[in-house]
Amino acid sequence: MMTPDQIQEKVKTIIQLPALPSLAFEVAELVDNPKTSAQQLGRLISADQALTGKVLKIANSPFYGFPKKISTIDFAIIVLGFDALKEIVISIALVSSLQKKADNYFNTKVFWDHSIATGVIARRLARDIGYRVTGEVFVGGLLHDMGISVLNKYFNPEFRRIVDITREMGLSFLEAEESVLGVTHAEIGGWLGERWNLPDQLVETIRCHHDPEKAEKNRKLVSIVHCADVFAKRLSEERIEYDGETDFNELALDELQLNDEHLLNQYLEQYSETVKSEMKDSFVVSNLMGF
Ligand SMILES: [Fe+2]
Ligand SMILES: [Fe+2]
Repeated sequence: MMTPDQIQEKVKTIIQLPALPSLAFEVAELVDNPKTSAQQLGRLISADQALTGKVLKIANSPFYGFPKKISTIDFAIIVLGFDALKEIVISIALVSSLQKKADNYFNTKVFWDHSIATGVIARRLARDIGYRVTGEVFVGGLLHDMGISVLNKYFNPEFRRIVDITREMGLSFLEAEESVLGVTHAEIGGWLGERWNLPDQLVETIRCHHDPEKAEKNRKLVSIVHCADVFAKRLSEERIEYDGETDFNELALDELQLNDEHLLNQYLEQYSETVKSEMKDSFVVSNLMGF
């Protein structure tokens, strides 16, 4: 059994994780600059062939629903817009740096289906309640559980122990994480977000997605991702083993003025259709992950 000090030491090695690929930052910076032209952005992305291929595949997925084939980056920028493109590039960069093969303890497909469903629902929910900044909502949903990938990839023996405890002793995943590591995937994901210099609100969203009441910077964003996470779990055909709870946090519901069972059921029904149609053949997942 590790002592709390040893656990902390071990958790600190998270800081040694690979830095976010710098290209994603360059793209994000160009996109944030109002003077950037489509050509400038196109040139930067086109310089990386693998990235260009992935961006085009995703731009052509049913996810973005554009009726004609998008065959050049310049065209992709024009039809999808800067923000959508930034979202795509950052997602590709983050997701590919946390890849690891599936095994008995970690089902990669279930994990990324859940992450993408949370992103999709978060974006939809944000629109439905009139929250305007939808790009960060999608990325927040996509990345909310990235601490779990970190555990699986960089703390694999501990991750396996946590899963074993959950399976054999009936503890929730969060309780098992606390008992083995003294921290949860939410905190670990938050540390990685800081290490990657993600925007503060995004770090907070990852860190507080199970406890929206702890949010101080942008409780609305955290609440949206928290609720999207719960919706995604309720709508998933497979059990999301490592992220158990399917109860909405009351405070998050209040924050979004969703504290109404009838309304929640209505949303649940609508989102079931959205998720089914947007993820029909897991097109985006397979492209992102190279399955
Ligand atoms: Fe989680
Ligand atoms: Fe989750």
